[in-house]
Amino acid sequence: MSGTEAAAKTPSHGAGTRIRVIEVGPRDGLQNEKVRVPASAKVELVERLVDAGLRDVELGSFVHPKWVPQMADTAEVARRIRRVEGARYWALVPNQRGLEFAVQSGLDHIAVFLSSSETHNRKNINRSIAESLATVTEVTKTALGEGLTVRGYISTVFGCPYEGDVDFARVLDIGHALLNAGVVQISLGDTTGMGVPPQVRDGCARAVAAFGTEQVALHLHDTRGLGLVNAVQALEVGITSFDSSVGGMGGCPYAPGASGNLGTEDLLYMLDAMGYDTGVDLERVVAISRDLELEHGVTLSSKYFRYAGARL
Ligand code: HMG
Ligand code: MG
Repeated sequence: MSGTEAAAKTPSHGAGTRIRVIEVGPRDGLQNEKVRVPASAKVELVERLVDAGLRDVELGSFVHPKWVPQMADTAEVARRIRRVEGARYWALVPNQRGLEFAVQSGLDHIAVFLSSSETHNRKNINRSIAESLATVTEVTKTALGEGLTVRGYISTVFGCPYEGDVDFARVLDIGHALLNAGVVQISLGDTTGMGVPPQVRDGCARAVAAFGTEQVALHLHDTRGLGLVNAVQALEVGITSFDSSVGGMGGCPYAPGASGNLGTEDLLYMLDAMGYDTGVDLERVVAISRDLELEHGVTLSSKYFRYAGARL
């Protein structure tokens, strides 16, 4: 069934509310892929995602290439993409060094990141949370001074694969610190899909109440199959920005058991069916995933893609 057919089912639920879908596949998706995808294919991927209607695409990260080899060519990707007016091209940046690379590559949208769990933060970026907060605050300050826009990720907000439960009050404290530093939006990362519906509902409601709708995004990984259920909980308490990954690729290499992000196709299909507006052409996204799988052998877990891609 196409997205258009699906939208006829329950058009009144979303009542045309605009949902911002932030595509993280070229970064969070590919960073955990064993197969190396060449820069030319990444350039084409980013361009096709934007052509499909996505207006926020995270194209890569400026992290240490030994830590995440797949992202070593992000500068080349950033320089080669054909820019479309109105589209925002984001890159993940861990420190001042990463910011310098982003600026040299002509990018003006970056995302800083840290975890709400000490152990995951240490494994992922080799720092304590306090050290990372100081770094991202400094990076944000420098970036704003250079006219860039900054987003901020907080990982493991609904549970840590090393430590288990995470106190959501700590997540809110980090969120306050990031927003005070000048990030435009915080993205709540369920890094290994540990969130369950009542918890996600409660956390998202608290974050929206504390920071405002535009300031909060939800970044779901579909590790345990609860991605869409959790997305509905978030929608119902006012979240209007969601990160997702084309074909459902992805995962943090430094979080054991990490698996794909909520698939962009799954999210779009559900949003269309519920009457929300995304401005994205679902069938074009399916075709992008199909070509990625056929040409590069990446691992795609999106349910809607598995259904619709087979029919192309
Ligand atoms: P470190 O070893 O502590 O680095 O790693 P350092 O500061 O000690 O520097 C060591 C060397 O690295 C130096 O070079 C630096 O210049 C260089 P040397 O002097 O020895 O020749 N260096 C860099 N090189 C390239 N790019 C840089 C950079 N910074 C320093 N930016 C570091 C610290 C942060 C670099 C490392 O831990 C790292 O790269 N980690 C990245 C891990 C990562 O990318 N994880 C996945 C992304 S996060 C995620 O997926 C979660 C998210 O999706 C949300 C969610 O799902 O929850 C966002
Ligand atoms: Mg992630």
